[in-house]
Amino acid sequence: MFKPLQIIDEKDKILRRKAKNVDFPLSKEEKDLIKQILKHLKYSQIATKSEKYKLRPGMGLAFPQLGILKRVIVLVHEEEENKFTEYVIINPEIISHSVAEVAACEGEGCLSVNREVDGHVKRHARISIKGFDENGQEIELRARDELAIAIQHEIDHLEGILFFDRIDKNKPFYNEDEITLI
Ligand code: NI
Repeated sequence: MFKPLQIIDEKDKILRRKAKNVDFPLSKEEKDLIKQILKHLKYSQIATKSEKYKLRPGMGLAFPQLGILKRVIVLVHEEEENKFTEYVIINPEIISHSVAEVAACEGEGCLSVNREVDGHVKRHARISIKGFDENGQEIELRARDELAIAIQHEIDHLEGILFFDRIDKNKPFYNEDEITLI
């Protein structure tokens, strides 16, 4: 049975707090929650499911968005049509990144922000991150473009940062000469 997650809205100050590192092994509750998030994110990207369960499409979620101040990020990336890759990264850290920066041309969205926010968010074009999987195994991965943007967005949640904090109020939009828009 599928039950949509109750996601905390930006008005809740808990989203502004810093999350703590996770200890291993994970509890059964934490593991179950990760599974539930993966399913929610995947369903939110499948039209028939998102309509049926009234889900806003989303690619990532961080534990603080469920009111849990722990450093867990979960992403479901549709690599090609109907081909989803799941990422669970615990205690994530960006270990290196490109000098090149990008921004999503449409701007970013967030399952905790239930309104349109206009503006470009500057992100590293490529990142290498390390962290741990659900079993406490160390993992390292590289990401670029859309996935890199999404991972940086989720890591920001662990620091209490929301994407619109990074939009320059004096100049919310870049043009193609200033940054690569994807
Ligand atoms: Ni978000």
